[in-house]
Amino acid sequence: DEAPKTEFPIPAGVFAQTVTSVEHYTDRLFKFRITRPSTFRFRSGEFVMIGLPNAEKPVFRAYSVASPSWDEELEFYSIKVPDGPLTEHLQKIKVGDTVLMRKKPTGTLVNDALLPGKRLWMFSTGTGIAPFASLIRDPETYEKFDEVILTHTCREVGELEYGKQLVKALKEDPLVGEMAQNLRHYCTVTREDYPFQGRITDLMASGKVFEDLGVPQISPETDRGMICGSMEMLKDTKAALEGFGLDEGANNKPSTFVVERAFVD
Ligand code: A2P
Repeated sequence: DEAPKTEFPIPAGVFAQTVTSVEHYTDRLFKFRITRPSTFRFRSGEFVMIGLPNAEKPVFRAYSVASPSWDEELEFYSIKVPDGPLTEHLQKIKVGDTVLMRKKPTGTLVNDALLPGKRLWMFSTGTGIAPFASLIRDPETYEKFDEVILTHTCREVGELEYGKQLVKALKEDPLVGEMAQNLRHYCTVTREDYPFQGRITDLMASGKVFEDLGVPQISPETDRGMICGSMEMLKDTKAALEGFGLDEGANNKPSTFVVERAFVD
């Protein structure tokens, strides 16, 4: 991988990669893709530290890799935080620009941290969908679970667009579409009109999400969970799953659900 020319020296221990595409969804959300270093390996669902070569000591922030581990490029889905130390600059990147990435991926939203089961639930709010964008494109997910349910809750309808495009493209993909036939995408909105409304925690408490999907209430015998959202969302969704008898796992102790914060600037 040839080092690009940048104003500041590339710090030690980071990859300097080239932006290959940028797509803006709303005034708050965008996706970008970068070249993948040939030596970079990660497990679908993990995150890396991302920065820009715009200072002697660049600011790095955690980003879930949104592309699957077999992809030739790396994809990220980002919020634009006004005055956010990284995102105020990152939101302006263009194709051909350089993005820095620390070399070591990590994270708990990985298939290895869950015991096998019948049905995998992925609970996301906002940009918390990013690690699941990776996992739903990974064949291993469908080898391990018969059914996959991705829930995504956002404040506004426009914020669902990234996930909707992703699932549509996945189901239509001639190579990986077949495996994703057992994927269901359940979208809800909390601050605008939409056919499905409300926080996922409330929809689990009332049983509406189970009715809507025609599946039994979550149980530790059959169901596994992965959660990614704000700190408050993690806390409340974790409590809901524990209420159904599930138990938090980790890489070194696989169990019935795992949790990761959706990182914001
Ligand atoms: P709400 O509009 O009722 O706050 P945010 O952008 O704040 O992270 O929110 C993204 C989505 O997550 C919103 O739809 C929001 O609903 C929802 N949300 C926020 N807090 C929680 C929580 N504690 N439990 C479940 N959902 C939540």
